[in-house]
Amino acid sequence: MQTILTIPELRSTLADLSRSFYSRSPESVVKTKKSPIVFVPTMGNLHEGHLDLMRLARMHGEHVVASIFVNPLQFGPNEDFDRYPRTLESDLAKLSDLADVVFAPSVNEMYPEQQAVFVEPPPIADELCGASRPGHFRGMATVVLKLLNIVQPQVAVFGKKDFQQLHIIRVLADQLNLPIRIIGAETVRTEDGLALSSRNQYLNDAERREAPNLYQALLGIKDAILQGERNFERLQQQAVESLTARGWGVEYVAVRQISDLLPASLSQDRQAHELVILAAARLGHTRLMDNIEVRIEA
Ligand code: PAF
Repeated sequence: MQTILTIPELRSTLADLSRSFYSRSPESVVKTKKSPIVFVPTMGNLHEGHLDLMRLARMHGEHVVASIFVNPLQFGPNEDFDRYPRTLESDLAKLSDLADVVFAPSVNEMYPEQQAVFVEPPPIADELCGASRPGHFRGMATVVLKLLNIVQPQVAVFGKKDFQQLHIIRVLADQLNLPIRIIGAETVRTEDGLALSSRNQYLNDAERREAPNLYQALLGIKDAILQGERNFERLQQQAVESLTARGWGVEYVAVRQISDLLPASLSQDRQAHELVILAAARLGHTRLMDNIEVRIEA
């Protein structure tokens, strides 16, 4: 595995890897059914969820490129950019068998001058997580487009844990005609159901015991929907109330359509409805997010 800190060095390494991929016999290129470069962007502090993204990436690409970059543009002024855990050494050790190239640029490498050009995300970026994190998705979309332009992968893998982020990246790739396949990877959970997240380590013992109840609240809504409940407003409200009673500071609980993340509406002329139940809430100072998908037959 190679660790690369600068854009020129990364570009030249990736050009070599692509050249060697295409210099093989046409039969072997066709036979692998893999793309030359598959990319997994991260902010580091890697946990099993990230490692799963790398494993999924390996199934789609001959060369797995990961990036580790805590992107200042996607943090608000009162957010945790400064205290976001930076664990490069242990991250590199975890990636040694899973990635071929790790791009770990400095802030100055990514933003050598004040960034003046931004990606304007679609309006859905102002809802859900975007409502409490103004500018977050603009900063995220900007760095993701920069990274995709730097790495130029054929495939990129993102976790479904950040469902709204994944949706916005899909829209970005689609509407800006990026020749890149975006793949969403399932959320990895601990045994008690807590979705893995770098922010889990901010939780104290009591908060850690409470944390899986966010997932339980989503499961409760999913069960109710599967049993026929269609008053989504009521389900959302009940979940907010029960989490609040347990000490959570709830930002939102929302039942949305997977296709566009707009509020779920059930039209009779559709065979099935693909929904996602999303939530973000604070336990003490820690902001947790989770989501689960649910499919209902018409
Ligand atoms: O999901 C993340 O870790 C970040 O938002 C990403 C996609 C690496 C962009 O900074």
